[in-house]
Amino acid sequence: MDEVTTFTPNVARYENLMEVVRNRLTTRAFRPDIAVPREHIEMVLEAARHAPSGANAQPWHYIVVTDPQVKQQIADYFVTEATKRAKLKMKFPTPNYRGLATAPGFVVVVADFRFVRAFPVLLDGSDLDRKYQANAERILLQSVAASTMSAHLAAAALGYQVWWVTAIGQDDAQKELRPLLGVPDDLAIIDIMLFGVPAKAPYKRWKKTLPQIVSWGKFDMNNYMTLDQIDDWVREARHKVMYRDEGKVD
Ligand SMILES: Cc1cc2nc3c(=O)[nH]c(=O)nc-3n(C[C@H](O)[C@H](O)[C@H](O)COP(=O)(O)O)c2cc1C
Repeated sequence: MDEVTTFTPNVARYENLMEVVRNRLTTRAFRPDIAVPREHIEMVLEAARHAPSGANAQPWHYIVVTDPQVKQQIADYFVTEATKRAKLKMKFPTPNYRGLATAPGFVVVVADFRFVRAFPVLLDGSDLDRKYQANAERILLQSVAASTMSAHLAAAALGYQVWWVTAIGQDDAQKELRPLLGVPDDLAIIDIMLFGVPAKAPYKRWKKTLPQIVSWGKFDMNNYMTLDQIDDWVREARHKVMYRDEGKVD
C-alpha cells in the first residue's frame, strides 16, 4: 500500500484559534457586577495545566482569590508600588492598578524556583554552575509563562478579557503578599492574572508586522536595533503602544 505523503492542515481550527489569539486584549478595569463562575475559572486553569514545561516539571501553582478584601489589599499594594516607582523616577508609564480590585477572575501565579534543579545544573556553587543556574531560571520562567498564557487564551476564548500583571516590584513584594495568601517562603509570586467582562470596550494595541519579527535562514539585520534606537523607542513610542487613554507617565 502507498504511504500517505500528504497532510491536510486544519485551517478552520487554526482560524478559530487565531480569532481568540487576535482578540485577547489587555483590559485594566472590569465589571465587578458580572461574576466569573467557579466553573469558568476551572476551565481557564485547566488550560494552564496542559502547558509544556522544561523537564515537564510544571513548576507552577495558581491561587484563586475570591475574598474581595484580599483583592483590595493586593490592589492597594500595587498602587503603593507604582507610587514608589514614580518617586524613583523610573519613567515607566503606569496604569491605574485600582482596577485590580474590580476583577472577578483573580488568579495569583506562583512559581517554584527550586525546580531549577530539574534542569541542567551542577549545584556545586561554581561559576559555571551560576551560568547554568541562570539559564535554568530562564527555562523555569518560560515554563510558567507558557502555562499562564494558555490560561489567558482560555479566558479570552470564553469571551472574557484579561490583564497580566507583573508589576510586583522585587523581594519586598513577596514578603508583603505571601502572608495574605498563605504562600510558603520558598515559593515566588511572579504575576497575577485578572479576567472578567471589561468595564469599557477593549482595544487592539500596536503589534509589529510579521516581517519585522521573522527572519528566514539567518537574522535579518534590517530588524536589528541598536541600543540608541531602543532608547529612542522607549522614550518616543513605548507609552503610545502601551496605552491609548488610560496611561500616565510617572
Ligand atoms: C510578561 C508580561 C508582563 C506584563 N506586566 C504588566 C504589568 O505589570 N502591568 C500591566 O498593566 N500590564 C502588564 N502586561 C500587559 C502588557 O502591557 C500588554 O500585554 C501589552 O501592552 C500589549 O497589549 P495587549 O495585551 O492588549 O496585546 C504584561 C504582559 C506580559 C506578557
